[in-house]
Amino acid sequence: MPPRGSSFNSKMGGKRAEKPLKTLLRLFRYFKNCTGILIVSIISILAYSAASNYAVLMTKQLVKVLEAGIGADMAKYAALLIGMSILYAIAVVTNFLLNRLMLSCSARVMCALRKEMFEKMQSLPISFFDGRTHGELMSYYTNDTEAVNELLHHSITQMLISISSLVFVFGLMASLSIPVVFIMICMGVTVFYVMRGVTKKSRKNFKKQQYELAAVNGYIEEMIEGQKVVKVFTHEDKAKAGFKVHNDELCKVATDANTYASIVGPLMNNISHIFYAITCTVGVLLAAPVPGEEFLLENTWFASHQAFLVEGSALIASLQFVRQVSNRISQISQQFNSILLALAGAERIFALIDMPAEVDEGTVTLVRVEEKDGTLKETDRRTGHWAWKRDNELIPLRGEVKFADVDFSYDGKKQVLTDVTLYAHPGQKIAFVGSTGAGKTTITNLINRFYDIADGTITYDGIPVREIKKNALRSSLGMVLQDTHLFSGTVMENIRYGRLDATDEECIEAAKIANADFFITHLPEGYQTQLVADGANLSQGQRQLIAIARAAVSDPPVLILDEATSSIDTRTEKHIEKGMDALMKGRTVFVIAHRLSTVRNSDCIMVLEHGRIIERGDHNALLAQRGKYYELCTGTSELS
Ligand SMILES: Nc1ncnc2c1ncn2[C@@H]1O[C@H](COP(=O)(O)OP(=O)(O)OP(=O)(O)O)[C@@H](O)[C@H]1O
Ligand SMILES: [Mg+2]
Repeated sequence: MPPRGSSFNSKMGGKRAEKPLKTLLRLFRYFKNCTGILIVSIISILAYSAASNYAVLMTKQLVKVLEAGIGADMAKYAALLIGMSILYAIAVVTNFLLNRLMLSCSARVMCALRKEMFEKMQSLPISFFDGRTHGELMSYYTNDTEAVNELLHHSITQMLISISSLVFVFGLMASLSIPVVFIMICMGVTVFYVMRGVTKKSRKNFKKQQYELAAVNGYIEEMIEGQKVVKVFTHEDKAKAGFKVHNDELCKVATDANTYASIVGPLMNNISHIFYAITCTVGVLLAAPVPGEEFLLENTWFASHQAFLVEGSALIASLQFVRQVSNRISQISQQFNSILLALAGAERIFALIDMPAEVDEGTVTLVRVEEKDGTLKETDRRTGHWAWKRDNELIPLRGEVKFADVDFSYDGKKQVLTDVTLYAHPGQKIAFVGSTGAGKTTITNLINRFYDIADGTITYDGIPVREIKKNALRSSLGMVLQDTHLFSGTVMENIRYGRLDATDEECIEAAKIANADFFITHLPEGYQTQLVADGANLSQGQRQLIAIARAAVSDPPVLILDEATSSIDTRTEKHIEKGMDALMKGRTVFVIAHRLSTVRNSDCIMVLEHGRIIERGDHNALLAQRGKYYELCTGTSELS
């Protein structure tokens, strides 16, 4: 079974940002609501770097006092200790404050980003969702969001701390010893190039690790979704074997990736040890004469190179800075890499946010109307009458749908509907029958404009559907989709999803029409029973009954029932027939059903084959034609 991970990988993890600077600047724009926090954070970073490094510098004075003997200047010794303690306390407090502030700042930015992403997703066309897997869509909210979160609250702060610390270190070092500053620069360059080499190697492996991680996750997701099918075909061993392949590969690349990563620490330690030793050697060679050796200053070399001489106390402080420099530079190299990877996540998020929303060029809206003195008037009251509003003209909503020479293809290559011409007069029940994949659901996808047609026209009460606002169009249609979906919540809430202002009584009335009332009242808590995700604690047929109740409560002028009763037993279907008839009365209804008994009382039955209507007429006329419909009927025992 091909793992979903493979397609998922190519689009997801491991990619580095293509325009990192542009993306970073765009990300910074989200900080506009926390400018105050940012200013305090930057002050905290500077205070932290200054305090922690100045405390190191103070060891120079401390050593000097020790050289002279503590007893000689006890007060200075105490003052130095207190001063250092205060500086370290400032470093601790500012570091804590910084983390705290960046945490709240990044939480706000993430909140804004998630909101923008979710709102954008609500505005995207169905084709966006049809073309992507669950895993891909979820990864915007998991992988990418997590990467950006990490970037905002950790990587960027660490990077800024490292850079500002380096600036302070070099500034303070310059006051200690110029030769040691040169040694530091040499060390900085060495550390930088070594880190670059190592990260280049490890980046490749980390990329592979992310690919494999995505593959493992994709496989797990697919196996969880298809767990029942796995069990039905007793393919548990096959599933385990498939998983082992991905898991082993992940294990291998993770080991490779982390092998490189794990040498970074010891490598950096060794480099800093080497430079530590070099600094020591150079420091000793350039050691300034200690008191009592003043005669040396009369020596020509010492006299002419006094600026390069290193005091013993300065050397001790410098050695601590050596450690700082190597740590900070290796941190910068590591953060740089993870910042680039996180910015790739931000780029994907921005690409989603920038996606063009579903185009709606429609201008015609749907309004409630009442008749006064023989003319239609717009009203807010629930009159049960509707009209299309085009400019100031009111066109009564009658539910007349016409297709004229409609051609359609989902991908622009494979023609799914060809020359479909049909009309549904107001109040008529139109049925679509035909083999699987013939294009029945596609026709309904065009009525509600999930997709737009390439050729031909579709009109609704004489108005081209393109001119009708999508929301208005869809609210005039009550749909029971082929894939029933229930949300987690109570049964009552799920029925009310059809019309959010429906009262409990109206929901119960709708459930009675759908014949769902009987089973609902037998649930442990009746209408207040909690449904788990997608109604998994109900049978398929019960889910369909709730979906029908949901359509009934929305009280639409046009109903589209796509296999709405396919999972309901024929006895229950008979029971709901009366309710359904009442529901359909006075409305235009499009019914799709494989079970022909469901459609035999339709005003017109369209038989579809490979996207074309090959036969049309009522049940008796079609039987008389002795064509495809006749074949379907005679092949169906229930009609005999
Ligand atoms: N989102 C989509 N993207 C691309 N092609 C699609 C999409 N949905 C359906 N198709 C293709 O369009 C054709 C018609 O599909 P449609 O769902 O309309 O069939 P149907 O008659 O409703 O079948 P069924 O009786 O199985 O529900 C099929 O060949 C299918 O592969
Ligand atoms: Mg279908």
